[in-house]
Order: sequence, then C-alpha cells, then structure tokens
Amino acid sequence: MEEVIKELINKAALRIQSKYQFEFEENEIEVFLTGDDKLGDYTSNISFGLAKKISNSPFKIAEELILLINSFPETNYYFQKVEAANGFINFFLSFKVLEQEISEVFKSGLKYGQRKIFPRKTAVIDYSSPNIAKTFGIGHLRSTIIGQSIYNLYKYLGWKVIGDNHLGDWGTQFGKLIYQIENELLKGKNQKEKKKILESLTIDKLESLYVDFHRLAKTNPQLEEEARKWFKKLEEKDREAVRIWRTCVNVSLKEFNRIYKLLNVKFDVSLGESFYEDKMKKVLEELKDKKLLKESQNALIIDFEEKLPPALVLKSDKATTYFLRDLATLKYRLEKWKPSLIIYEVGIDQTLYFEQLFEAAKMLNWTNSAKLIHLGHGLIRWPWGKFSTRKGETIHLEEVLNISISKASEIIEKTETKRNLSEKEKNIIAKKIGISAIKYNILSYHYKSDIIFDWEKILNLKGNSGPYLQYTLVRCLSVLEKAKHLKFKNSLVFNPNHLESLICRQIAIFKPTLNLIQEKNSLNLLTDYVFKLASLYNLFYQKYPILKAESKEEILFRLKLTQATSQILKIVLKILGLDILTKM
Ligand code: ARG
Repeated sequence: MEEVIKELINKAALRIQSKYQFEFEENEIEVFLTGDDKLGDYTSNISFGLAKKISNSPFKIAEELILLINSFPETNYYFQKVEAANGFINFFLSFKVLEQEISEVFKSGLKYGQRKIFPRKTAVIDYSSPNIAKTFGIGHLRSTIIGQSIYNLYKYLGWKVIGDNHLGDWGTQFGKLIYQIENELLKGKNQKEKKKILESLTIDKLESLYVDFHRLAKTNPQLEEEARKWFKKLEEKDREAVRIWRTCVNVSLKEFNRIYKLLNVKFDVSLGESFYEDKMKKVLEELKDKKLLKESQNALIIDFEEKLPPALVLKSDKATTYFLRDLATLKYRLEKWKPSLIIYEVGIDQTLYFEQLFEAAKMLNWTNSAKLIHLGHGLIRWPWGKFSTRKGETIHLEEVLNISISKASEIIEKTETKRNLSEKEKNIIAKKIGISAIKYNILSYHYKSDIIFDWEKILNLKGNSGPYLQYTLVRCLSVLEKAKHLKFKNSLVFNPNHLESLICRQIAIFKPTLNLIQEKNSLNLLTDYVFKLASLYNLFYQKYPILKAESKEEILFRLKLTQATSQILKIVLKILGLDILTKM
C-alpha cells in the first residue's frame, strides 16, 4: 500500500512541479502508519518538504495535492477518503481493500504476512548470555525474552536466523573461583572426596566462594597472584583446573537449562566465550598487523583517539579480555555465517562497550557487509526498589516465575471458561499463563525503558497483558468452535459497521506494522498493535451478537472477522513467544 500511496503522491507532485518550479524526486516521499484511526490508516508529510523548497505553506500544498489525488480514478478504488489534517495527507483504506485483505488473511491462515526473501539474508542474534557461576539474573531474563522474540520475528520475515547464547564461561574470574575451590574445599581431600564435593556444588555456593575470595584478597593481595596462576593453568589446559572449571560450567548450565525449559527458549548454538580461547591469537595478530594496538602500562589497548575511550585488549599480565573474546566472536560469526546483521541483546550499561567493539570492527575493516546493532535493555525493578523481596533479600528468577504461575492459577478460577478443566489441565494452563504474562510484560516496554514489575499489571485480565490476549484468543476460538457446523465461503457481502471496520483496518495494517517493528527492532510496537486488535474485538464481541446476528450474511461475516482476528492473534502470540491456549 505504501507503494500505491507514493505513486499517487508522486503523480500529484509532478503536476504542481511546473507551477512552482521545484526539484523533486519520488524517493523523497515518505509514508507512515498513522497509529490513530481518526487520522486514517496511512499518512504522508510530503507537503512540509515541498513547502520548504518553495517557501510556501504546507497546508496550502497539502490542499492542492489532495485535490489532485482525489481526481485520480485509482484513488477511489484504494481509499474511502483522502484528506488533509495539519498539513499531513491522510489516507483511509477503502472497503474494497479491507475486504481483500481480510480474504487474504482467511486464505493464508497462519502464514499471513510471512515472507520469503531471495537471496535469503542471515541474522545472528546474541541473546541471554548469562555468566557461569553466577545466578541467572533478571537482566538476562530480559535479554532472553527479547532476543528470542526478535529471533522469531526475523524468521517470520524470511531471514535465516542463528540464535547464539554467548555464555560468560571464560575470563580471569575463573582463576579466582578455582583458587577458592581448591583452597577452601578440596585441599587435603582424596580423589573420591573431591569428586563428591565437586558434584554437590550449586550456583549459590559458587557465588559465595567468589565473594569470599574478594573479601580475603582485600587483606591478602597475594591471592590475586594465585588466581592469575590458576587462570593461566586453565588457559594451558591443566587437568585439575579444567576439571574444576567444567564442574562450574555444568552446575550452572543445569540451572540455566531449567530456566530455558520453563521459558521455552531455544538456541541454535551456545558457543560461549571459552569457545574462542584458541581464536584470539589470530585476532591479536591482525590487530598488530593493521597497527591498531597500542601499549599502555604494559597492557595492550585500542586507541580510538577523541572518538571513544580506549578499549583494553590484553591485560598487563597477558590475560585475555572480554573485549578480545568479543572480537574473536565477531570474526568467527562473520566468517562462518556471513550475516547481513548481528544483533546483540545486552544490557544498556554495556552501550559504550559495544560502541567500542563496533568501532574496532570498523577499523579492522570487518563489517562492510554486516550491520551491527546493540539492543541495550533497561533495568527491571520492583516498586520498592532493586530486584529483591520487599525485605531486601535477593530473589531468584525461578521464584519470580513460580510466583507468576501461582498467581495465574488464581485467575483460572475466576474465568468463565474454566469449567470442565481437570486439576492437571489447570496446572498446565497456569504455567502457560504465568510464564507468558511475564514475557508479554517485558516485551510491552520499549527495550530501553526501565520496567517496574507490577503483578497487577502483569496479570491484568482486562488490560494490556499476556493473559488478556490469551483470553481474547480463547474467546475467538470458542465462538468458532460453536459455529463449526456452518460453512463459510470466502466471498461475502462486505458492509462493516463502524467497529467492524476498525477491526478490519487494524488487520489490514498488520504487514506494514511488522516492517516497522523490524526496522526499529521494537517489539513493544507489536504488543501495542495486538492489544489494540484484541480490545477492538472484545468491544465488538460485547456489543454485537455473532451467532445470533440478524441475517445469515451477517453471521457469516462476523465469523469471518472472528476467524481473521484469531489468526492474527495466533501469529503474534507465536512471534512474542507466548503460549496459545484453547481453554482458560
Ligand atoms: N555475559 C555477558 C554479561 O552478562 C553478556 C554477553 C553479551 N554478548 C556479547 N557478545 N558480549 O554481561
């Protein structure tokens, strides 16, 4: 539709070009979704651009353009009306177009809006990426949920997507941890005892060992030296060091995988930082060859001059850094998958870090064909402050997820469709509602915004929430189920009332909305979109009879609308990673 509009505007603009004598090219025309049905479906600000060229009023130019646009015969076909408002030109889709779009939804089912692109482009999404020997935090939850949904979106839009969980499983901190485990837990123990101790480790224990190390090192600086030695041993594949490190990794992965299973999140690869251990040397050499390394206090840095602060590449004790591993990671990804795009879904506190990384990649001449994006997410807090219980105790992510599930159970008891559910079914559904509610809540904010977790909002059956959408879909499906004996053909009389036409219009902008979301990588636009569709449908459902509508024609039309709505809801829920329920 954007193309149609651009053509109409272009045609009109060319007609006034000789009158006003301005330079003009079609690619100057921009067309946007209005986001407000009173202002039409699409809008263009072209009058402002043209008015500026000829020092005239945009209002006047808009009026002139509209007069012309309305005189073109094709305008009538595509648009119910085209009007000017505050200098903008607003386009309202015609019933004909709406009808076609609804029919297309109907026909393409769950593939509506799905794309195939040739040649296929590849995107690598770096998401979740928690750190070994540390608990899986709420920040990593945000990255996991957003990353997975971005993954789903690109896939839907025809990309080849590689999801990579870049685990923090390497670095000098492991020297500290290994030292502490050796000295606190394993010293003087025989092999069998050691094995038992290692097997019984938990993430909490690992975390406290790490804290202990720092406490002890404050009064005994020698410990830092010991830790360095252990990290060196690890880098040299010393058996004892590797064994302890592997235990830390396994203990952590066990917990992480439990969370991923609960969240139903999957990765194509989980290479992790350790994977790049043997790939850093080459990068160092390349940096050296390209004269990008500088020595500073015995360490090696990349100097970005005025542009950015320098980045530490190799520490003074020759230990490798997170930055160097990220460079090696980037090189590997570029060579292995030849992506056009790499998205890093990592906290906003690493913004400067990624600016440095991307700048370094540019200096290395690596990224001519690939775009690098850091989607930096904001914080999640409770109303009373940082992520902890009301009393200030830290709270584990799994507990948060479980609270959501148990709150969801209460909701099920309240809904009108809960009848006939067995206890077992209720438990499964509670899990699906509780987890989806958290996902939706996170996705409904712009990634940069901070989120204040609020159970009322997360699980609000009447508001912009996961359960509300799941419930709307259940409602659609149960209407369709009751009507399944009716055969409805695709060709129907199309004469929607106001609310029905709003639903159709919302459905008709689904595809361009997906484009916009991809362009901005902002999934909150998708939750906004689908919340509006669901709200419109629910209003319609409350206001008009469907199966008891006056005429057969009307019944069939309303069913068709219900069907189209349910399909869009299903598609969106899938992209957002929410569970689709048939009962609730
Ligand atoms: N493990 C890191 C952290 O928790 C995030 C890694 C993000 N990905 C990357 N390629 N640096 O802070």
